[in-house]
Amino acid sequence: MIYGDIEGVRDIILNELEEIYDIKLPKDEIINEDIANRMHRLTLILNREISTAVDRKGHVKYVCIGDSSSVDIPLIDIKEKRLSGVRVIHTHPNGISRLSALDTSALLRLKLDCIAAIAVSDGKEPEITIGFCDVIDGILGTVMIEDLTIEEAQSYNFLDRLSIIERAIMDNEIEEDTSERAVIVGCDTEESLEELGELAAACGVKVVSDVFQKRAKIDTVYYVGSGKVREIAMLAQAVRANVVIFDDELSGSQVRNLEEALGFKVIDRTTLILDIFARRAKTKDAKIQVELAQLKYRLPRLTGLGIVLSRTGGGIGTRGPGEKKLETDRRHIKEQIYDLKRELDKIQKVREVQREKRSRDNVPKVSLVGYTNVGKSTLRNKLCDVALPKEGSTKEKVFEADMLFATLDTTTRALSLRDNRIITLTDTVGFVRKLPHDLVEAFKSTLEEVIFSDLLIHVVDCASPEVKEQIGAVENVLMELDALKIPKIMALNKVDKVSREYLDVLKADYINKENYLDIIEISAVEGTNLDKLLDCIGENLPVKLSAVQLLIPYSDSSAAAFLHRNANIIIEEYRDDGIYIEAQADEEVINKSKSYII
Ligand code: GTP
Repeated sequence: MIYGDIEGVRDIILNELEEIYDIKLPKDEIINEDIANRMHRLTLILNREISTAVDRKGHVKYVCIGDSSSVDIPLIDIKEKRLSGVRVIHTHPNGISRLSALDTSALLRLKLDCIAAIAVSDGKEPEITIGFCDVIDGILGTVMIEDLTIEEAQSYNFLDRLSIIERAIMDNEIEEDTSERAVIVGCDTEESLEELGELAAACGVKVVSDVFQKRAKIDTVYYVGSGKVREIAMLAQAVRANVVIFDDELSGSQVRNLEEALGFKVIDRTTLILDIFARRAKTKDAKIQVELAQLKYRLPRLTGLGIVLSRTGGGIGTRGPGEKKLETDRRHIKEQIYDLKRELDKIQKVREVQREKRSRDNVPKVSLVGYTNVGKSTLRNKLCDVALPKEGSTKEKVFEADMLFATLDTTTRALSLRDNRIITLTDTVGFVRKLPHDLVEAFKSTLEEVIFSDLLIHVVDCASPEVKEQIGAVENVLMELDALKIPKIMALNKVDKVSREYLDVLKADYINKENYLDIIEISAVEGTNLDKLLDCIGENLPVKLSAVQLLIPYSDSSAAAFLHRNANIIIEEYRDDGIYIEAQADEEVINKSKSYII
């Protein structure tokens, strides 16, 4: 029986494939000429991959059209301390024998004795690459022996190799390496590549090496030059990486070409950023927005990344919508996008109502903006601690970490200033360079909160070597949001990390610029100058409150109720002659109640 996708394959070919079952390989040979040549020839005719699985006695167990992942080999748990006893021999119709990401993943997952790939191209002798499991420092990995001729592959001392591996597995506590180790590749600027490294770290991926190639023009086939591809493949192998991340958006065909040529999973910057957002999204609308952005990004790329990743499973780019196999179906994705958009619309309506309600309540709105990782969440938490409103609204800690994008959702909390005024403080998503376009769109609603603010606090990491670029990037986004007219103050954060002299130089550049009302030096972590910052917020809010004392006769209880709704009541006493109230209120409220002012 021939497994896999046999539809449309002529009987004569199927018969020839069936004959492969009759070949018996000598026990000590991985492959022989008969099987290799036959598979080579049939692949040329079919232009499709052919896989065979052979047991350790040399019997062919499965013949299959399609890749090795469609061969039904049971999964072996490494705790069983053995290999599966099955080797997979398969063809690569693309003419490259190097094992693909899919091949090495099958090798490890199924604990194959080995996996051999025969490069098939017309007029060329078959070239063979063999991959084995390998144990290095107690971790199960892979090793490749590349570009062998059939004779070389046939005479390879295969049983010796197997017994070494099996002994290592028997004698040691072996762990399966599920970690992701990346080589990062960039053609833009070195800073951008460095930021890519941080993004990878935020995804829990270890960056083991980086490659930078300054190019005037991006290669449409491979993004980098084809010579560089070979270099990256060797490097990735040498440093035992399992994923290569490119510092730009790649097209579906570039991803496919690169995965084929490199033999590693390939991820681009956008997928990485989307993945981080998917991990960090906490509120329902943020989750939906990220999922939408992921689906939209993946839709035109389904032929490459989508399919390979849905099969290999696990790791970056597969979290979120890609986990489910169904999603390789285009129509299904489109339906899902439609449903998500409707759900999002509903949520956004609720958000608008909430915002309107806050506006009606006349509570001044202050938003924290800033580049990613400058310390916005830390500052917000600290401010919540020191300026919690008296009524004791619940303290909620925002997820905060020395990682990018710790804040994804707009989170709004109430604070009380020292003059007892209540304000709301909204933490916004941090900005990065090259934010994927879909994501900017998706997060417009989140960022719209900024537009409705009475005051912005631009939090700046003064210890960052790129502080000025970061300030510039944030100002650009504010301009895009049409938010430049909103009054803003600058909070120079992390002053604990820089010298006085440096601070003075930095401040001099911004202090005289009219677009910042004030600059306050703070350390969110050490709690330095938070009072000063709160006072500065109070001074710069457009609506000023004044203190009033009133005595309201019991006959006009509606006046007291009005004050409760519209002023900040500090003291309220029920006296013989009426209700005594000390409050802070704006001009309008004071005017309306002026007959009771004492
Ligand atoms: P995003 O959510 O990515 O936008 O980040 P964020 O701006 O909210 O930054 P976050 O509060 O997560 O802080 C980032 C890192 O900076 C954390 O490791 C904080 O501990 C650290 N940090 C924040 N404020 C200070 C500070 O005043 N001094 C020092 N030394 N570190 C700080």
